[in-house]
Amino acid sequence: MKTLQDASDLTGKKVIVRVDFNVPLDEEGNVRNDKRIRHALPTIKHLLEAGAAQVILMSHVGRPKNNEESLKTGKIAAKLAEHLGQEVEKVDDWGEAGLPEAKVVMLENLRFHPGEKSKNEAEVEVFSKQLASLADVYVNEAFSNSHRKHASMMLPKLMEGFVGFGVEKEVSAIKGALENPEHPVVAVIGGLKADKLTAINNLLGIADEILVAGALAFTLLKAKGKNMGASKIDDEGLGEMGDLLEKVNASDKVHLPVDCVVADNFAEDANAKNVSVDSVEDGWMALDIGPETVGQYVAKLKEAKTILWFGPIGVFEMEPFSHGTKMIGRTIAESDAVSIVGGGDSASAVEKMGLADQITLVSTGGGASLKMIEGKELPAIKLLT
Ligand code: 3PG
Repeated sequence: MKTLQDASDLTGKKVIVRVDFNVPLDEEGNVRNDKRIRHALPTIKHLLEAGAAQVILMSHVGRPKNNEESLKTGKIAAKLAEHLGQEVEKVDDWGEAGLPEAKVVMLENLRFHPGEKSKNEAEVEVFSKQLASLADVYVNEAFSNSHRKHASMMLPKLMEGFVGFGVEKEVSAIKGALENPEHPVVAVIGGLKADKLTAINNLLGIADEILVAGALAFTLLKAKGKNMGASKIDDEGLGEMGDLLEKVNASDKVHLPVDCVVADNFAEDANAKNVSVDSVEDGWMALDIGPETVGQYVAKLKEAKTILWFGPIGVFEMEPFSHGTKMIGRTIAESDAVSIVGGGDSASAVEKMGLADQITLVSTGGGASLKMIEGKELPAIKLLT
């Protein structure tokens, strides 16, 4: 990757930085969690210290339909200014008027412009050109959007570009764990959707053990003929997976739960009990892996030298169904293995449990890190490689 270390002289240059400040906001547009802003600080500070004439920040926020007031970047710019200890000027329109002189500017939500994520390539290109015309150098510091070919991600086609420190760290850590890992490699794959079979299929060639959890596991158990009662099952997703299911089922690396926590209702105060996966009754739904499965999975994780965890184990937001997620999270945090946690929900579980500091890398990008685990290239990173 072309990293910021390769950028020889930034003195006097205008640098446009694609960040991912798609942060959680309240109804007034106030920042509820500024992790993604803090994540970009080393790159922004480096550019300023390297003598850049101007640092132009741009990001999408949410998925706007009508340029909603609550998705504007003004309060995000203010939060960034607090962290930087210097003014960040918010720019609504950068067409005719051009940019103000300020050292650090933040553009309005990129997705207010149809060209940003248009399906029409020509429209995307026009918007890319408009953005590129604002600066001399481009930096991608938005790993979490790097699986998308949006206009702001494609600027290296038009100008000199580099990856920021955050992208460099994240891509190198995930690539290292996939391409040159220390064995045994143990992957924990959870979550809701059957399309994670694509990731499991790729991991068959990398991991020594693949521990499946979440609704995905219950979907696979049902496909094996087990009665899963009222459990959430992604039949439709499974239908789209073609012969992957057969391939995954045939591998002795892939482990499914032997027991689960079932409830008679999707609610925190539902009646709940531990049962074997062979004894799920009609009307009951599996919401977590059971204690025997936790024991088996924890034992395998303790042997691991590299751990990949993608997707939650159970409905961890509800206390009675959070045991599996807690035990897997704690075991990974206590392990000396290289550990990568990706996927929005498992990353937020790790943060909620206060374990993030004990994990080698908690990925900022749900979709982007999953694409890497699936063995796919990220188009925005490819342009900078
Ligand atoms: C994310 O939060 O994962 C990224 O910002 C991408 O957002 P999107 O899913 O709306 O494209």
